[in-house]
Amino acid sequence: MSLTSSSLVAAADLAIAAIQGAKDLEELKAVRIEHIGDRSDLAKANQSLATLPKEDRAEFGKIIGVERARVNTVYAAREVELEIERDRRILEEERVDVTLPGRRTSLGGLHPLTILTNEISDLFLGMGYQVEEGPELESEWLNFDALNMPVDHPARTMQDTFFVEPLTARLVLRTHTSPVQVRTMLRQAPPIYIICPGRTYRADELDATHTPVFGQVEGLVVDRGITMADLKGTLDHFAQAMFGPEVKTRLRPSFFPFTEPSAEVDFFFQGRWIEWGGCGMVNPKVLHAAGIDTQEFSGFAFGMGLERTLMVRHGISDMHDIVEGDLRFTRQFGTGLV
Ligand code: PHE
Repeated sequence: MSLTSSSLVAAADLAIAAIQGAKDLEELKAVRIEHIGDRSDLAKANQSLATLPKEDRAEFGKIIGVERARVNTVYAAREVELEIERDRRILEEERVDVTLPGRRTSLGGLHPLTILTNEISDLFLGMGYQVEEGPELESEWLNFDALNMPVDHPARTMQDTFFVEPLTARLVLRTHTSPVQVRTMLRQAPPIYIICPGRTYRADELDATHTPVFGQVEGLVVDRGITMADLKGTLDHFAQAMFGPEVKTRLRPSFFPFTEPSAEVDFFFQGRWIEWGGCGMVNPKVLHAAGIDTQEFSGFAFGMGLERTLMVRHGISDMHDIVEGDLRFTRQFGTGLV
């Protein structure tokens, strides 16, 4: 470029036009290299000052200084403008709408039957009982024979019991939690204070009051001097904890092969007697079979249905609600988590 004042002004005007035309910082950077950088016309003009005759240097030096300053001022202003624009764009792109509804994660909860089971376990643990477990796939011997249930007992017919193949293995889905009584007595010497809540099975159709898979809670006490009065007192306490302090229980004579005498437990609730479960004094034959000295020890046992307890306590009229797992039903009981 020839060094004339008009060419310098033209170069500066060109640079300014380019600066103002830059649409973002990226483009502005390219403009800078071309029009302001070392290889730009204005920079080169500045470098060529040295080649000018001395008398011209001051004049051109001054013009170059003025033009470069003009360009730099416009550049700085445009740079600020584009930076503001960029920041605004980033803010817009990364915007978080704090008014959007949050995404709720559901923690889940315990089934009402599990909540009830925990409640019953806590009650008896508080009285010094232990909570026992037994397998749901149980030997026929423990489920029946050891409980003084002879082979021709009606409960052993195909109608009630789920037998498991191969039949020669003599395994059943336990029909009650009473085999855990035997398991406990075989393992542990008296005094024994246990409950066993758990799942049990009988070949029933699912309807409003029956389910082939149901829960029971078994109680067993074996100690010195245990009488039916201890049984009655324990059942009263249990019933009152379940249904309210006003609740009374009554025993009706009944029959179970593993208790003698045996009784059905009813409780009086909201104006009527309701059947709750079976109970009795542990049959000495059962104690004998477990190697317990019946001269020294006696015991009582009881077995209650968990579904029935839940249904009566909460006015549930249909068993389907308990087994189907509809959250609209189960949520009414809370999560059961503490
Ligand atoms: N196991 C009996 C039943 O399922 C209930 C029961 C338990 C009766 C303990 C007496 C003693 O019907």
